[in-house]
Amino acid sequence: MIVLLIGSGAREHALARSLSRDPAVTALHAAPGNPGIGELATLHAVDALDGEAVAELATSLEADLVVVGPEAPLVAGVADAVRAAGIPVFGPSGEAAMLEGSKAFAKEVMAAANVPTAQARVCHTESELTAALHEFGAPYVVKDDGLAAGKGVVVTDELEAALDHGSAVLAAGGTVVVEDFLDGPEVSLFCLCDGKTVVPLQPAQDFKRAHDADAGPNTGGMGAYSPLPWAPPGLVAEVVEHVAQPTIDEMARRGTPFVGVLYCGLALTSKGVRVVEFNARFGDPETQAVLARLTTPLAGVLLAAATGELASLPPLEWSDAAAVTVVIAAAGYPGTPASGDPITGIADAEALPGVHVLHAGTRIEGDSLVSAGGRVLSVVGVGDGLAGARAAAYAGVERIDLPGSHHRSDIALKAAESVR
Ligand code: GLY
Repeated sequence: MIVLLIGSGAREHALARSLSRDPAVTALHAAPGNPGIGELATLHAVDALDGEAVAELATSLEADLVVVGPEAPLVAGVADAVRAAGIPVFGPSGEAAMLEGSKAFAKEVMAAANVPTAQARVCHTESELTAALHEFGAPYVVKDDGLAAGKGVVVTDELEAALDHGSAVLAAGGTVVVEDFLDGPEVSLFCLCDGKTVVPLQPAQDFKRAHDADAGPNTGGMGAYSPLPWAPPGLVAEVVEHVAQPTIDEMARRGTPFVGVLYCGLALTSKGVRVVEFNARFGDPETQAVLARLTTPLAGVLLAAATGELASLPPLEWSDAAAVTVVIAAAGYPGTPASGDPITGIADAEALPGVHVLHAGTRIEGDSLVSAGGRVLSVVGVGDGLAGARAAAYAGVERIDLPGSHHRSDIALKAAESVR
């Protein structure tokens, strides 16, 4: 099977790693990829947002499957262009990707499908924004309706900060969604969908704040782990029954079937499971931990989703080991990250048992690997229980040097302690 992967982050490096280990994959290509993906795949300098160019590349490669990683190409309709060229594609159409592309649309679909989520108000004016913030009170949850590259959501106790974020979105011509705050721990569950059938992966937890003990600003995600030893036993089945399947059925009923990953961002509240957000792609950095534990070859699974065959797929198989991802971020992240700094020690880290390193914000300069983005690397540790996986991941982090970089030291710490 010839596979073309679209994207350039650590999530795509994790996908490339799993795809490259699938014996059915005879050739792996990526566009645009990154230096880490380039060790596993042939890279092509094609713009991931250009559907026609991606479809042309897939056709010229005689690809059997195209996997689109990030949300921006999905919302831009890249999967539609590939489908129109007659090539199976893992990733929703532009219309179906609006489950991530518009928070207001996602709320409308959830209401129609009777999916439990926070109450919300869609605001087009300052006065609607102020009224909604006063209605729900603190903590304030203020979301940019559209895609905002991980910077669209502010959760704060400060009314002024909530107003500032909402006003900035409105001033830029956007729409704001203000929501009731959901208490309780958050869980990410990725559901593979073929338009009709839902196959859940194992749940993970993400750490969104920049610093230890959930302090500091929101980020795209500073680390993740899987499995969740504290999660209720029936959680996955409950989410499939009450969240993912009704959503997929509603999308099919609307004539916009969802094919790809429905990322269910959930809060386990005192009143039960509630959807915090949907995304139309794998989560980053949760994917790095989840795929490290999936033992079923990945390409066949994604092809089954792309071709409407998930119902005939045998049950997925998982390693008993745990996985922890620690993100190494550049100085300044999540503000303006430093770039061009040398990265060393990756080979030393990967020489350790159970450690692999995935690239996100990296590039080659001369003979050196240098930083080129906010989240630079994901260090993944796989081990016996979360304590073993943490030990591996942090031993890997210690071997890597990037001047000025920072990482959290408490990824999966509480969960590991809870099972001691
Ligand atoms: N881990 C958060 C996200 O992928 O959106």
